[in-house]
Amino acid sequence: MIKPHGSEQLNPLYIRDEQRRAALMSEAERLPSLVLNSAAAANVVMLGGGYFNPLTGFMHLADALSVAETMHTTDGLFWPVPVLNLTSDSTVQVGDRLALRDPNVDGNPIIALMHVAGVDQLSEQHVESMAEQIFGTLDPEHPGVATFTSLGNIALSGPIDVLSFSYFQADFPNTFETAYEIREHIAQRGWETVVAFQTRNPMHLAHEELCRMAMERLNADGCIVHMLLGKLKPGDIPAEVRDASIRKMVELYFPPNSVMVSGYGFDMLYAGPREAVLHAVFRQNMGATHLIVGRDHAGVGDYYGPFDAQTIFDDRVPADALDIAIFKADHTAWSKKLDKVVMMREAPDHEKDDFIVLSGTKVRDMLGQGIAPPVEFSRPEVAQILMDYYQSIDS
Ligand code: ADX
Repeated sequence: MIKPHGSEQLNPLYIRDEQRRAALMSEAERLPSLVLNSAAAANVVMLGGGYFNPLTGFMHLADALSVAETMHTTDGLFWPVPVLNLTSDSTVQVGDRLALRDPNVDGNPIIALMHVAGVDQLSEQHVESMAEQIFGTLDPEHPGVATFTSLGNIALSGPIDVLSFSYFQADFPNTFETAYEIREHIAQRGWETVVAFQTRNPMHLAHEELCRMAMERLNADGCIVHMLLGKLKPGDIPAEVRDASIRKMVELYFPPNSVMVSGYGFDMLYAGPREAVLHAVFRQNMGATHLIVGRDHAGVGDYYGPFDAQTIFDDRVPADALDIAIFKADHTAWSKKLDKVVMMREAPDHEKDDFIVLSGTKVRDMLGQGIAPPVEFSRPEVAQILMDYYQSIDS
């Protein structure tokens, strides 16, 4: 199986031994504690599940600045996005053992235990230069920039032991999985070439066909539809609705045992190209050999060019940095001439009118009015689940 990023073995930070976890939990209950922000809690969940292998905790300022600027830590590890625990709490001291509390669960239960190895003060300039490098903009309207610049200006760094996966196991018992669990499933199925599909949307026909095209062209043993289960921006479709529609599509339209449906607990960054590289790192960690990157991957608004998330792999990622390969997909759309979904660049004889391309906004409007999108856009069974959802929020 493909090796994890940066080490021979995957080293998830979740304490799997129950007794040890209980002992650490009771120690943590007696310690001073800090309620994390959602971004830091999401980092804890990813570190716990092995997705952020080989990191052992939160980065200090020098690493974060280096990662933002060069996509490498000060020790030379390839890493695309700073993994930070930012706070405004100025009482934490170097050397403290600190209980980290979950902001996303009532009562803020303990999620991890941290050894504070560094407390760094960030200047406004530090925050801005990192935001600009990660998101390619400082526009406060950009949802990722707005979040990142509001997290606090003290970076607590150091190793953590993860004691919980937040609300993800309870809320998504069949879908939330760690990188080590996915590696086990891949091994059990005997898959060698494994394509990962990143998504934060319900899957329409174009998405379904992207998976099918990648599987066929790579002669893959299987595909993992790996959906984001964490926080999105207002207006995005809730995870349980996406989960239901994706499962329906896989059940009805893919051969049995060819597609795994799975999810991870992270908040969307909307960092476009940088996030695509982070996606590649953590898909390698879960055992995928390929990641599909299509049009405007992890983008928002028009902050990024439609294929910036592909070109970053050629321009900024050293050839030996990652073992996972990128399946670069062109814009897919329904061809009226061929009666199927195609990559637009592979249909050079087509005029604009030969394609059916519906905007997300148009489709949302249709669904909200109870009008099913055409079969060239969405499977009827998927459309039904989405219509039910849109009508439930309207009423
Ligand atoms: S995102 O989290 O990467 O933003 P989204 O669910 O919107 O996920 O898209 C999933 C994947 O499908 C991304 O790689 C995206 O680039 C790709 N994609 C979505 N729609 C199209 C399309 N019409 N043509 C090509 N690629 C697409």
